[in-house]
Amino acid sequence: MSKKSAKTVSTHPESVQSEFDALIKQDRGEARQRHWQGNLLGYLEKVKADPSIVKLSHARLYDLIMSGGEKSVLETDDHRAKRLFKDDAINVYGFFSDKFFGIERTISQVVRYFHSASHKGEESRQVLYLMGPVGSGKSSLVEALHQGLESLPPFYAIEDCPMHEEPLHLIPRHLRKNFEKMLGLRIEGDLCPVCRYRIKNGWEEKGIAKGEYESFPIHTVEFSKRARVGIGVVPPVDPNNQDTSVLIGSEDISKLDLYSEGDPRVLELNGALNVGNRGLVEFIEVFKNEVEYLHCMITATQEKVIPAPGKHGMVYVDETIVSHSNEAEWQKFKADHTNEAILDRIVVVKVPYNLRLSEEVKIYRKIIDYSDFKAHIAPHTLEVASMFAVLSRLEPTNKCDPITKLKLYNGEEIVEKGRTKKVDIKELQEASKREGMTGISTRFIMKALDNALSDNTKGNCINPINVREAMISMVKEADLSDDIRKQYLEFLQDTLHKEYLEMLEREITRAFVFAYQEQTEALFQNYLDDAEAYVNKTKVKDRNTKEELNPDEKFLKSIEEQIAIVGSSADGFRQEVIAYLWAANRRGEKIDYKSYEPLKEAIEKKLMTSVRELSRVITKAKTRDDEQTEKYNAMVKEMLNNGYCPSCVDIVLKYAANNLWKD
Ligand SMILES: Nc1ncnc2c1ncn2[C@@H]1O[C@H](COP(=O)(O)OP(=O)(O)OP(=O)(O)O)[C@@H](O)[C@H]1O
Ligand SMILES: [Mg+2]
Repeated sequence: MSKKSAKTVSTHPESVQSEFDALIKQDRGEARQRHWQGNLLGYLEKVKADPSIVKLSHARLYDLIMSGGEKSVLETDDHRAKRLFKDDAINVYGFFSDKFFGIERTISQVVRYFHSASHKGEESRQVLYLMGPVGSGKSSLVEALHQGLESLPPFYAIEDCPMHEEPLHLIPRHLRKNFEKMLGLRIEGDLCPVCRYRIKNGWEEKGIAKGEYESFPIHTVEFSKRARVGIGVVPPVDPNNQDTSVLIGSEDISKLDLYSEGDPRVLELNGALNVGNRGLVEFIEVFKNEVEYLHCMITATQEKVIPAPGKHGMVYVDETIVSHSNEAEWQKFKADHTNEAILDRIVVVKVPYNLRLSEEVKIYRKIIDYSDFKAHIAPHTLEVASMFAVLSRLEPTNKCDPITKLKLYNGEEIVEKGRTKKVDIKELQEASKREGMTGISTRFIMKALDNALSDNTKGNCINPINVREAMISMVKEADLSDDIRKQYLEFLQDTLHKEYLEMLEREITRAFVFAYQEQTEALFQNYLDDAEAYVNKTKVKDRNTKEELNPDEKFLKSIEEQIAIVGSSADGFRQEVIAYLWAANRRGEKIDYKSYEPLKEAIEKKLMTSVRELSRVITKAKTRDDEQTEKYNAMVKEMLNNGYCPSCVDIVLKYAANNLWKD
């Protein structure tokens, strides 16, 4: 350590320094514990004790996915998803569920692939191919598998083997049956040319005599994308320069003079298919490559071997191959019948865009959480942006308008205005099989959020208004057909404008309800008095006149109907309310109109009807009297409590004054 840096460290408080030191030491200790080193005999003992340490790549990945747990959508507490999937209960997988939203079907197909491949079914000899539009999450799905592999405990491999191969390969063919019986498993695969050479000729460096394979050194290694261990990545290559060394490695020309022809010591087995042995190889934009290139990929999965460079025979590989591209590339590739052989060896999984509003919002939350985006995000901003994304992806239908379709797909119980019958969502889906394969991408929306922020020089804040503007100008500039541009602008300027104003009106009115808290509490008290008398079959004493009156059923109903409690269900509801509040009271909790959620909602809605008119007057007013000012300020305060910042609350209220409640 140089003097300078020593000095810098010593200026840290001692406790911090020792904290770093402790962390480093602890990590080193743990790493030591994770790792193992020995020889083949030692490894055999380990396998005998726990045969599950021997795993082929598909099984390893399947176990990795399943280690995050699985459950039926119906067992989650996502009510909308339950409604949407009630007829074919799909499973959700913990491994993916906190990172991927609204593509449950895609994920379950991916899991199904790994499941059958892990049982060595035909899938284990096929390429998993993800096909979908730009920004639908294909790369991210593969990235999740990379990260998953990197989080696994290290795996056992022959030391210094360029393929990090399974140590059991050392066991000669004629003895395998016996060993398999003793170990209770099947031994698959053959030694790579380098290890084979070391057995045959002895391995001087390690002091191993010819044929003494049982002493071969075995150690554990960690999956690592950066170090290229167990994870290989093949980017699309310039078609004029398709050098297979990227896939299968090469011969080191400088060594060709040193060794005789066929000596594997000249081999540099560092292609993606070599380094991905034991794990995963990803082919990005797979069909941008020449067909010859793809044949290598196919033999690697189908035959589980790849050619060694030069004249060194074949090399056994055990790896999962995942490739992806967009639909246009796929269609082009498929149209060429000379590609049939390849097509037959591919398991296609479509990765469409998500079509559920609630899930689309989660996608942007996730991306923003991972990014450096630090601005304030006004309520409904991501919702409005997501609405546009989803609308652009939906296929039109004559059964309902696009926004109704969006809400149905979002699991909302809605009936379109002017219609009486609910549209069957299954029917909608059946009629639009290609839905989700086109439309606005997640990246477009993220760009719009960024643009809205950089356009907003005054406040460090994005809101539905500036985001919608950003989206409009992006659509105007985008390279789109006239029809599509027109459609998108209609969504933005018409559909979303209306939807947002409705949201805003509800929100402002609700904030005003808060300003009228006295009235709210009064409604609540009256409801309680009447409901209690109704339930106990007693009278209500008027607070002012002390008269004994029958419970006012008309009043009770006027509250209950706000949350669609009508007819015979009213009795049950009243009993529930009273029982709930009594119990809360006995627990010593303070009782107010917010205590019981359904009643709170009903009371707020009831008040909104009467407050709406006042909101209009007060919000639009150029000058306000004292009482109005007081209410207005209370409303603004409530908006701030509900997630607005001083900058955006101003913007949305001005917007409301100009656009809402048109006289
Ligand atoms: N359904 C989804 N759930 C969660 N995140 C998603 C979803 N769809 C897209 N994303 C996010 O959108 C971003 C873009 O996705 P990604 O880069 O994986 O797309 P891609 O399909 O590989 O696109 P391309 O074809 O352009 O390479 C990522 O941050 C990804 O996590
Ligand atoms: Mg990608």
